[in-house]
Amino acid sequence: MDEFKDFKEHSVAEFFKKNRQMLGFSGKIRSLTMIVHEFVTNSLDACEEAGILPEISVEINELGKDHYQVTVKDNGPGIPKTHIGKALGQMLAGTKFHRYIQQRGQQGIGASACTMFSYITTGQPTKAVTCHNGKKLTARISMDFKKNKPVVEVIEEQDTEESGLTVISEYKDVRYERSNYGVFEYLRRTALTNPNAIISLLEPNSEKTLFPRSIEENPKRPFEIRPHPLGITTHDILEFAKHSTETRLSSFLQNAFSRVSAGKVSELRDLAPEVNFRKKPGDLTWAEAEKIVEAFGKVKWIAPATDSLVPIGQQQIEASFRNIFNPDVLVVTERSPKVYRGGIPFVIETAIAYGGGVSDANKKGELMRFANKVPLLFDAGGCAITETIRSIDWKRYNIRNFEDEPIAVLVNVVSVHVPYTSAGKQAIANEEDLMAEIKFAVMEASRGIQKFISGKRKANEIATKKKVVSRYIEQLSADLASLTGEKKEKLSKKLSSIVEDKYVTMKDDEPETTERIEEEKDESEGEA
Ligand SMILES: Nc1ncnc2c1ncn2[C@@H]1O[C@H](COP(=O)(O)OP(=O)(O)OP(=O)(O)O)[C@@H](O)[C@H]1O
Ligand SMILES: [Mg+2]
Repeated sequence: MDEFKDFKEHSVAEFFKKNRQMLGFSGKIRSLTMIVHEFVTNSLDACEEAGILPEISVEINELGKDHYQVTVKDNGPGIPKTHIGKALGQMLAGTKFHRYIQQRGQQGIGASACTMFSYITTGQPTKAVTCHNGKKLTARISMDFKKNKPVVEVIEEQDTEESGLTVISEYKDVRYERSNYGVFEYLRRTALTNPNAIISLLEPNSEKTLFPRSIEENPKRPFEIRPHPLGITTHDILEFAKHSTETRLSSFLQNAFSRVSAGKVSELRDLAPEVNFRKKPGDLTWAEAEKIVEAFGKVKWIAPATDSLVPIGQQQIEASFRNIFNPDVLVVTERSPKVYRGGIPFVIETAIAYGGGVSDANKKGELMRFANKVPLLFDAGGCAITETIRSIDWKRYNIRNFEDEPIAVLVNVVSVHVPYTSAGKQAIANEEDLMAEIKFAVMEASRGIQKFISGKRKANEIATKKKVVSRYIEQLSADLASLTGEKKEKLSKKLSSIVEDKYVTMKDDEPETTERIEEEKDESEGEA
């Protein structure tokens, strides 16, 4: 018997076709949100990289039961004809995977995953209209699953003065709903953290919503860094070395990685005397690469260049939050970058809004998770952010029960590489350094609202007591009048003023701002 007669190879496209839930395509509402998420993140990435202020329109048309057409149009640089097929029809292909730069996309799967999902649920190719460098191309794209290769049918080519990409695709087994997990909420949150973008949404019921731009310029561009020696494995070194054009190992190390100077190379030489640093990088053996990684671990390195990261920023978050929630109190943290896995830089931004519009919106204990400004709506349970929020002793901050209070917490993880738990990119892995920093950041913001909440609570208690006592004034002054012969009105006035003096409530608080609690900021650093 030949046990291996069924042994076969399969492509990544076939794999994800069978395991589409790993890409986030599970559940009708979620699947539709994931589709919009993939296209919108691509548009934002492309516009910002090209230095264009993003204008993105999303249209969703209902074609039948659980059957929709999705159109996403941007004003970005478009995609050249040479690459449109691979961009939309080949998995694990794109401009982002190999780069060490803060971007929303990082895998090279998103767009082709949508093409796949569309094709397997409707049998239809995805239509793309790409305007790039004066050329407009309209094409239909599908994929050869066995080979993981795009199938492109060119429909029309013209000259144009426009630029941008429009993707029109059809899906079955999806559903539009205005729920917490729907497209509307996704775009609302995207607008919150991307104030430089105009985003419009046309819903299936023809309702049009415009999420306006509140900042007229793109954020500073994050810049690309080389990998830091502390985040490198033996296999990484060998792979980099294999493709290096340097003639010597010493110069290869200085050029391939950040913070490796000639001085550091001589330290590495002393730590790994068995390695010949003059040899060609391509001749490096596994054992030698292992020695270098060992030596990397012993050298004292300057931390990676953390200014490569661009968080949303305190002012922008404040502006967006006031716009959306107009809370009684709002605290935004601005913290310095840190490093996880020894060599990957990241920054945590947090904002906590309490009361005011948060209560009006009937939001209770709302946690808004973001990674590189992209809202994470799903897989909350398995996410490091959720876990960290749960581990905080909220009572310490006068929040009796997080789930029952009018509180909204935003956490944005910014990094050159976000450690997602799956290809669906909806939850962040439990990296220890990341979780510790998220905790510090949230605690810092919590201290800011703590004072406000205790003041407000006290004022409420006093107001309640005053109300209770005031109820007796009428009867008491009538009784006293008949006992003493004094006029009832006079007695009542006097009693009222005694009550007024005794129960002085706080004047309505002006909304607390981040600036005012600034001086408390640094305490958090030492807290566990
Ligand atoms: N709207 C767009 N404008 C310009 N280029 C785009 C656009 N959308 C996609 N691309 C190009 O197509 C590539 C593939 O996109 P895709 O979403 O599949 O992967 P990604 O964004 O690189 O990573 P991820 O899978 O994490 O989203 C991108 O890397 C980018 O080069
Ligand atoms: Mg993408």
